[in-house]
Amino acid sequence: MSKARIRALRCVDLGFADLDKAVHFFTEAWNLTPVGDSGGVHYLRATGAFHHIVTLRRAAKPTLVRIVFDAADRATVDTLHAQVVAHGLEIVEAPAKLRQPHGEYGFGFKDPEGRNIAIVCGVRDHADAADKPDRPRKLSHVNINAGDSEATFRCYRDALGFTLTDTTQRLRFLSCNSDHHSMVLGFTGGATLNHIAFELPDLDSVMRGAGRMRDHGRAIEWGPGRHGPGNNVFCYFLGPEEFPLEYTAEMQQVDARHRARTPEQWTWPPGRLDHWGISAAPSERIETAGLKIHFTDDGYRLDEWR
Ligand SMILES: [Fe+2]
Repeated sequence: MSKARIRALRCVDLGFADLDKAVHFFTEAWNLTPVGDSGGVHYLRATGAFHHIVTLRRAAKPTLVRIVFDAADRATVDTLHAQVVAHGLEIVEAPAKLRQPHGEYGFGFKDPEGRNIAIVCGVRDHADAADKPDRPRKLSHVNINAGDSEATFRCYRDALGFTLTDTTQRLRFLSCNSDHHSMVLGFTGGATLNHIAFELPDLDSVMRGAGRMRDHGRAIEWGPGRHGPGNNVFCYFLGPEEFPLEYTAEMQQVDARHRARTPEQWTWPPGRLDHWGISAAPSERIETAGLKIHFTDDGYRLDEWR
């Protein structure tokens, strides 16, 4: 049996203490579009086909409930489940029928450091998927810190089928489709969130997005710049309750010919952290915020989706 792999980063489920403010931010400032709410959970879509890419709910403090990955079909979900179990993970649900808009079939589990992950297939997605200027198209990547980075890397590679596309002194870049990375894994910081990145259609949309964030009283915390690995342009911001976010565009596309580079090959001249060199280093605020968001204890359970 050949190894199954997830095929996309589909959704992040987030919690905020002030839910109304979070919904207002992600719709009015971040430019996602509401597609309904049910049981206190708000669903927001981007312009891409995925039914929703963010859910928002009330929580005691800003939190990451789970990361949701997309699989091609039921057989792939079953094979991924077998791979997760074979990898030795202990908190793993059995694949089961789900209800829309979560998909038709899937399961949740905890990764080696307790992060909540769901794998689903058969979500009834939208027929319209054309880009709109200044509106996020999809999730680009989730950047997570790690305590045992090796164990986490082995799980995402061996159980979920991610490919290593580059390594720097601080980060590993992991790909599950033609995007250079959909997950980024740090070497330090415990099982916390570093940031979540949303892909905009082009560089102009990133720059206008930075202006729109400024209109909403939120300064750029790092950027604008162009990253090394992935070659994507970036601006970082703090969302509601100091939630670390990135707008990005122009992600490098990769195929089997891509060769991962090593930390020795990814070095910058003194004083540089990106290709352009026009912006100061990340703010202290976003560096601090990038260590504070934890996963919930029970977010791996998909009870509410059945
Ligand atoms: Fe990023």
